[in-house]
Amino acid sequence: MRTVANLSDLERIARRKIPKWVFEYAHGGSYDERTMNANRDDLLAIKLEQRVLVDVSSRQFETSIAGMPMALPLAIAPTGLAGFFHPDGEIHSARAAKAAGIPYCLSTVSICSIEDVAEATGPFWFQIYVMRDQGFTRSLIERAKAAGCPALVLTVDLPLQAQRHRDIRNGLVVPPRLTPRNLMEMALKYRWSIGVAKAGRFSFGNFRDVKTSGMTTFAQWVADSFDPSFTWDDVGWIREMWQGKLIVKGVLNVNDARMALKVGADAVVVSNHGGRQLDGAPSSISVLPAIADALDGTELILDGGIRNGQDVLKALALGARACLIGRAQLYGLAAAGEVGVSKVIDLIRKELDTSMALTGCIDVRKVFRSVIHAPSK
Ligand SMILES: Cc1cc2nc3c(=O)[nH]c(=O)nc-3n(C[C@H](O)[C@H](O)[C@H](O)COP(=O)(O)O)c2cc1C
Repeated sequence: MRTVANLSDLERIARRKIPKWVFEYAHGGSYDERTMNANRDDLLAIKLEQRVLVDVSSRQFETSIAGMPMALPLAIAPTGLAGFFHPDGEIHSARAAKAAGIPYCLSTVSICSIEDVAEATGPFWFQIYVMRDQGFTRSLIERAKAAGCPALVLTVDLPLQAQRHRDIRNGLVVPPRLTPRNLMEMALKYRWSIGVAKAGRFSFGNFRDVKTSGMTTFAQWVADSFDPSFTWDDVGWIREMWQGKLIVKGVLNVNDARMALKVGADAVVVSNHGGRQLDGAPSSISVLPAIADALDGTELILDGGIRNGQDVLKALALGARACLIGRAQLYGLAAAGEVGVSKVIDLIRKELDTSMALTGCIDVRKVFRSVIHAPSK
């Protein structure tokens, strides 16, 4: 890890260590990946304003979301199947987040279950997809409560799953199928194979007691299980059941952000699911300022394309209170488990620190739009 300078280094290691079908499940987006690419391109196009001779000798990174303290304006995004990126992957990421004092958000479709992660690390944020079986959705919320989760992250941008060409081409199936191609890959990545086999977790941890029809493509399983009829009106019964903090994830415009607040959200994640859902949707950073202006005072979290501390600073300047990292976390996890995720967080912290100092900022809660360079006309 000592020679790792940035996230691209970890991404390269990750690509080397894990099977192609796992790497590409994270690396890709939906359809032509235009929205996924726009997330990065639009962040890169934003320039920061250098300021000099400001006293930046002490800098402050602590902040909070909905009253929940965090040591950095950063949290780990929910990512399904993280347990395939490293044996017991969710536990490793949750440990790294805990050590850094930032929230870890466990996905509904994790490999380690709510109980596995709670036992290993204590409380975390739990992300929920609403299932067709309302009883099961309710049981997931009860389990999150029993695990002491302080926040429920309700993902609203996946009534059905958009096609990811790479997953089709790689034959992504859960649990993994032992085809000749997969066996060959597993032999080539034998360390990964041995680790995952030892961990003994090959499917969705939170659905262990649910009877499924056996092997199925991930996309088909989502289509069969998620509730596409769920609406804003239905959020009411979730809000009633859940007395903790409610964070609505997957909003890209002012109207939907307003609806989220109306149904009782404590914070909103401006997100296009990392460019994995509506291809052709705008990048999340491009819509952030309008939402922040219209909903002044609302706690907004941004995700999509965050790869370094400069990206976080840009998001804070444009109205976010914190950012989530999805792929960045998975690259670190695949590269070196908990150590790799800690490295990602550390890199982002240091990059943010330096970039704050060079733009004359000393407090993550006071990063204003003047940090963004506006070209002179
Ligand atoms: C491999 C992968 C799996 C994901 N699984 C989930 C999920 O289970 N639930 C969810 O709300 N979002 C999921 N997301 C979306 C992330 O939470 C987040 O919105 C996105 O990764 C942010 O973009 P970034 O990867 O560029 O940081 C997933 C993203 C990736 C890359």
